[in-house]
Amino acid sequence: MELSVKIKEGIHWIGVNDRSTDIFEGMWPLPKGVSYNSYIIDDDKVAILDTVKHNSYERFLGKIKSVIGDKKVDYLIVNHMEPDHSGSIKLLLNEYPEMKIIGNKKTVGFLENFFGITSNIEVVDDAGVLNLGRHKLTFHLTPMVHWPETMVTYETTEKILFSADAFGGFGALTGGIFDDEVDIAYFEDEILRYFSNIVGKYCVMVQKAIQKLQGIDIQIIAPTHGPIWRSDPASIIKRYDRWSKHEAEAGVVIVYASMYGNTETMMEAVARGMAEHDINRIRIHDVSRTHVSYLIRDAWRFKALILGSPTYDTRLFPLMDQFIKFLKHKQLKNRILGLFGTYGWSGGGVSTLKEFAEEGNWDLVDPIVEAHCSPTDEDLNQCFTLGKRTIEKIKSYETCG
Ligand SMILES: Cc1cc2nc3c(=O)[nH]c(=O)nc-3n(C[C@H](O)[C@H](O)[C@H](O)COP(=O)(O)O)c2cc1C
Ligand SMILES: [Fe+2]
Ligand SMILES: [Fe+2]
Repeated sequence: MELSVKIKEGIHWIGVNDRSTDIFEGMWPLPKGVSYNSYIIDDDKVAILDTVKHNSYERFLGKIKSVIGDKKVDYLIVNHMEPDHSGSIKLLLNEYPEMKIIGNKKTVGFLENFFGITSNIEVVDDAGVLNLGRHKLTFHLTPMVHWPETMVTYETTEKILFSADAFGGFGALTGGIFDDEVDIAYFEDEILRYFSNIVGKYCVMVQKAIQKLQGIDIQIIAPTHGPIWRSDPASIIKRYDRWSKHEAEAGVVIVYASMYGNTETMMEAVARGMAEHDINRIRIHDVSRTHVSYLIRDAWRFKALILGSPTYDTRLFPLMDQFIKFLKHKQLKNRILGLFGTYGWSGGGVSTLKEFAEEGNWDLVDPIVEAHCSPTDEDLNQCFTLGKRTIEKIKSYETCG
């Protein structure tokens, strides 16, 4: 017998925890696993909201049966077609051949192109309504959060927003499924990592979605990953609002590379330059030893980003180059940026960082420090100044509000 968890009368969580997939979307590490949350409403009509990744189908079906027994499923509401949620649609349709799939115009193309499904589909538009009996659902299109077909579904009796990937996070659930049942601090970093890695590029669309949902009375937010927000649903909306406006916390992340320790010595001086001031939220990552997923997360979190790199084959150190490409792609904005690095003969490291700085919307810290092979005392003094001025800049933003 598989486990389901009651959310409200007739509404159950039938999600699964995936603790064996190591990387999400072929790229993002999952050290704490991930949950694929699915929900079922058992009313005059039975509706399932999103499915789970195909590797968990058997468990998923067991959970469905644990709630509805031999009853049939009338509707499958597809808020999002990414295969971590749509992967079991076809199998579910085999089990319940009369089940109607509810999606919007964009969902239809994905159903055909991923799974060859062309019938049993009901298309809904913005503010479309579905009556299940005691429970009534309304649909709200939230395109590009983070796929074109993305929508959210609102249950009007209990005031639950089934929000798809929005407001979700990495991390398999720990027995509890609600924010007040789990140690939420354990999930915090993973929620920001999920936002910055997966959704962050689509901040404009996140803002549109937040505005669209403003008039709706939301008591519970049930996302497709991570904890369900019921003790204070407004708090996660507020965080999404801040993150998607590129607002940041007072703190610094230094991301550096070093093959033989010279750039690392500079990094230590930069960090020390920051230490004698009262902002101590400083994180230091070696780009070769920390997955880019975490670097993106901390760049999103903190107001200042400092990059340090040696020159390698006339260019920036390749893993640093990869990181700045990610930052460009994710379109992170409104950050203080500090730069330092080393070269041996041609140069190319710091100059590439400068090009990166010119292309983006950064508040650049003076000085940019470049050492020839090994930093001199003067170079290290300059690094110290770079660190100190970075903190001063953060404080000036705080004073401006
Ligand atoms: C494999 C390798 C390739 C390098 N390529 C260049 C280069 O093309 N141009 C250059 O100016 N310096 C180049 N350098 C020199 C380094 O940038 C320089 O030695 C610097 O001090 C390395 O800093 P680190 O000790 O932090 O690794 C290269 C060094 C190594 C080890
Ligand atoms: Fe997704
Ligand atoms: Fe997802």
